[in-house]
Amino acid sequence: MIKTMQQTLFIVLDGIDGAGTTTHSKLLAGFLSLKGLKTYLTREPSSSEIGKLLRIYLKDERIPASTDALLFAADRVLHYKNEIKKKLEEGYIVISDRYIESSIAYQSSQSDEITIEWIENLNLFAGEPDLTIILDIDPKISLSRKNQEFLEKFEDTSLLDKVRQVYLTRAEKLGYSIINTNNIIELVQTEIQEVVLNKLKEKGIGIKK
Ligand SMILES: Nc1ncnc2c1ncn2[C@@H]1O[C@H](COP(=O)(O)OP(=O)(O)O)[C@@H](O)[C@H]1O
Ligand SMILES: [Mg+2]
Repeated sequence: MIKTMQQTLFIVLDGIDGAGTTTHSKLLAGFLSLKGLKTYLTREPSSSEIGKLLRIYLKDERIPASTDALLFAADRVLHYKNEIKKKLEEGYIVISDRYIESSIAYQSSQSDEITIEWIENLNLFAGEPDLTIILDIDPKISLSRKNQEFLEKFEDTSLLDKVRQVYLTRAEKLGYSIINTNNIIELVQTEIQEVVLNKLKEKGIGIKK
């Protein structure tokens, strides 16, 4: 019996604020569509009611990191079960702008009581990506890219330095690709595409030349 190779891939772009996850998720989705692949782009917080609440809470200093962690995990499980998994089953390549590594890096950096293990446990029911790419940048540069009026509560450089270290340590431990984004967008995007193309090849997923 021939086992058919699964023709889908779940890709996550993650990294500190302003690293470019939103910019590059969109560009990557456009690139893969041009290559003839059915592509679905999504982001966190998701479009669920919990996701909408999180977007409000991200601007509210009174909400503790533990509440954020719990809500992010609840949102992620819904996001995975109702959206990501469904799309993968329909044969789409799914790209998520942020996923579990955001919770691990941000919430564990905000409080000594919040451990990475606890966050991992909360997220046990959210399916794992096939490929996680960490976009890396010095927080001083990333924050200067953002409109200062719309900064969220995490967005100061001392916290972001900590968050960045968690991303980098995890990436080394788990073998995620790290791409520095302190370069023009086109060049950064080309590097991301190379990593994704390699993964597609590894999985035997064909693309248009
Ligand atoms: N390599 C880059 N060089 C210059 N500006 C960039 C680069 N990557 C992203 N930006 C800009 O920085 C801002 C934040 O990017 P965004 O993709 O929203 O980051 P994130 O989603 O990671 O917070 C946007 O205005 C974007 O156009
Ligand atoms: Mg973004």
